[in-house]
Order: sequence, then C-alpha cells, then structure tokens
Amino acid sequence: MTPLTIALYNGKGGCGKTTLAWNVAMGLARRESTLLVDADPQGSLGDWVNWADSEGHFAIAFNDWATFCAGGQGDHRYRVYDCPPRLGEDEIQAVLGQADVVLLPVLPSPLDLWASRRSAELLQDLQERRPALRAYFVLNQVEAHSALSRASQSAIAAMGLPVLPVRIARRAVYRSAALEGVSVYHMGKRAIAAMDEIERLIEEILK
Ligand SMILES: Nc1ncnc2c1ncn2[C@@H]1O[C@H](COP(=O)(O)OP(=O)(O)O)[C@@H](O)[C@H]1O
Ligand SMILES: [Mg+2]
Repeated sequence: MTPLTIALYNGKGGCGKTTLAWNVAMGLARRESTLLVDADPQGSLGDWVNWADSEGHFAIAFNDWATFCAGGQGDHRYRVYDCPPRLGEDEIQAVLGQADVVLLPVLPSPLDLWASRRSAELLQDLQERRPALRAYFVLNQVEAHSALSRASQSAIAAMGLPVLPVRIARRAVYRSAALEGVSVYHMGKRAIAAMDEIERLIEEILK
C-alpha cells in the first residue's frame, strides 16, 4: 500500500514542527501503522524518541533520515516527517518531493508569519510542479480566545497558502508531555483539549 506522507516543515525554528510531528504521528498510530521519520540529517528527534519509546501499544516506528533513505522505510500506512529548519536545495527535494501533505506550523503573530514567507513560497513552487501536493499553514501556540490580528490576517492572505481551520492552542501540556517523553494521548484528563485539537488536525489531514 502506498503510504500517506505528511511533512511538518518550516524554515523557521521553534514554531512547533517537532511537537506536532510527534503528536500527530502518535494519533495516526492509534489508527494504523505509522512511521515517524526524523528528516534532520543531524538527527535531533532520534535521541529523544529512542529514549521516549514508552508508548508501547502504539504501532509507531521511528527512523532517522539516513536509515530511512538506506531502505528503512518499512510497510506503513502513514509516514510523518519532522523536518529540520535548515534543508539544502537537494534535501528539500528529497524530503518534500514525496510528501502528500505539508503542514507549515506558524505562530499567529505577523512577525512569525512573515518569517515563514520563504517557506510558503517554496511550497507554492513545489505545488506548481506537483498540483496534487496539499500544503497548509497550521496556527500553533494560539492564545485561548484570541482572535487573529488584522496584521496576521493580511500576512496570511498575502502568502497565498490556505490555513487549516483547526488552531493549536498554547498549552503547558504539550511541554510537559515532551518532558515526560510521551504524547498528549498519554497525559490523561489534563490533555483532553490538546488531544481533541490534534484529532481535529488529523481529520483535516485525512480528508
Ligand atoms: N501548542 C504549544 N503549546 C505550548 N508549547 C508549545 C506548543 N507547540 C510547541 N511548543 C513548545 O515550543 C518549543 C518549540 O517547539 P518545537 O516543536 O521544538 O519547534 P520546532 O520543531 O519547529 O523547532 C518547544 O519547547 C515546545 O515544547
Ligand atoms: Mg524541531
């Protein structure tokens, strides 16, 4: 079966790629077999996931990029790529060239949005060559009950990538889950809202 490949990408660091890749992969793994790939040639997620590999009942596998490229692709329904901020031209082609869905996490501030502009352009270039590629902004670390500012709205409109309707809130539980080496699916009652928004994100991906 051809896997559905989802990449978390943004040339800007600190916008939530790793957090969302990890939690989305865990949510997908509750459905079907999932491979989480650290697309960072430096392999930062790797050390951490190996240490964290405690969610035993999830069918999640993990590979770093080198192993993945050397045939460690396995037979999975879903692949989730956590992309590093710095990818060279060739690496971008290699990593994003095979993605079905690219999610570009952004913080909902005009500054952060503009800082993601080059990444959004790059995705639009890829889409010109491959119209089947789906690419979206995902607003992350959104303050509860806050509306998007005018400036943010116009930055988004200027960049021409659609925004997914689900917004990921700023929640301490994303950090504490990461500190404990688990996903929000393992944090019990205090993570219900986080789990719910990750589930809605997954539903958008699977549409
Ligand atoms: N929705 C969120 N709520 C609270 N903290 C978050 C959220 N998303 C990310 N973070 C925190 O922000 C920091 C950067 O996130 P990370 O996923 O490492 O970004 P990236 O991989 O894009 O560099 C981390 O400390 C992470 O725990
Ligand atoms: Mg990261």
